[in-house]
Amino acid sequence: MASKGAISCQQLSKYFGDLAAVSQLDLNIPRETIYGFLGPNGSGKSTTIRMLCGLLLPTSGEAQVLGLHIPSQAELLKTKIGYMTQKFSLYDDLSVAENLRFMAQVYNLSPREQKQQLDKAMSVYRLGDLKNRFVGTMSGGQKQRLALAAATLHKPELLFLDEPTSAVDPQTRRDFWESLFDLVADGVTILVSTHYMDEAERCHGLAILDHGVKVADGSPPQLMEDIDAWVVKVEADEISRVRRHLSTLDNVISVTQLGMHLRVLLDKTISQPAVYVQQQCAPLNININASQIEASLEDVFVMATRASHPAGMAA
Ligand SMILES: Nc1ncnc2c1ncn2[C@@H]1O[C@H](COP(=O)(O)OP(=O)(O)OP(=O)(O)O)[C@@H](O)[C@H]1O
Ligand SMILES: [Mg+2]
Repeated sequence: MASKGAISCQQLSKYFGDLAAVSQLDLNIPRETIYGFLGPNGSGKSTTIRMLCGLLLPTSGEAQVLGLHIPSQAELLKTKIGYMTQKFSLYDDLSVAENLRFMAQVYNLSPREQKQQLDKAMSVYRLGDLKNRFVGTMSGGQKQRLALAAATLHKPELLFLDEPTSAVDPQTRRDFWESLFDLVADGVTILVSTHYMDEAERCHGLAILDHGVKVADGSPPQLMEDIDAWVVKVEADEISRVRRHLSTLDNVISVTQLGMHLRVLLDKTISQPAVYVQQQCAPLNININASQIEASLEDVFVMATRASHPAGMAA
């Protein structure tokens, strides 16, 4: 069983009335990796996570999670997984220690395990000094450390983290990701949803979701290498005029302004992308400098979701 993947699902779908929140989703997630769901609001990230946790019944399709069949064996799965919900779900009017003790009871830890795991959580997640603090008075980053401590108290093999860093600053996010890699080194598999490109880029594997559909998947370097577009950086004096002009061209998939330069995605059928941009801008009589550059994950995201977010002036 150890060689088998942590999660696989086939044609998993969830409808709310007529709305396909998740549509025909196939996944194969290896053990001891961090797998990301990257997608805009309403793309089906939380719904998928809730189905894979066994908390929400799929409309059709099935999944195997840690070797258990979902939905039929969902009850058995509950003790093997940890789930950090999108909204902070611990008790503001209990202290850190009380919250953790409560979770230890929910997970049915023996008194010995309880003590051991609480001590460990206090030190690993730097909660010792906050032990008696009411959770309602803590910062976003402190709450997040507590939420991760609570979700891992029962030593789950698989962790579901639904947008865990949406309320914390970049440094806290970095620290949090270090904790995630430590967990993976200890044998845990992690499924994490995010809106942030930098977070998605840290994952071993990634699925980009849009309107409930998986529109791309692979490792971040692979996705960037396989992108079906050229990326051209354009510097110019009248940058907004250049942007408006480029966004009207058929071969231009998207134009984004980043400070004083543009990032242009071009159809791959063009043979010399930088020269093409230069030539197309000639009638403007503006001094421009165009150069081909490597794709970023954001470029991959724009390409993958462009069917539902029409081309042009993304910014
Ligand atoms: N219980 C529900 N009843 C009806 N519609 C729902 C329900 N839960 C989710 N939806 C709808 O399903 C779609 C997917 O929602 P979901 O919460 O999975 O998206 P998400 O990717 O997690 O979004 P976000 O980034 O905003 O958290 C949305 O259109 C949402 O409104
Ligand atoms: Mg969500």
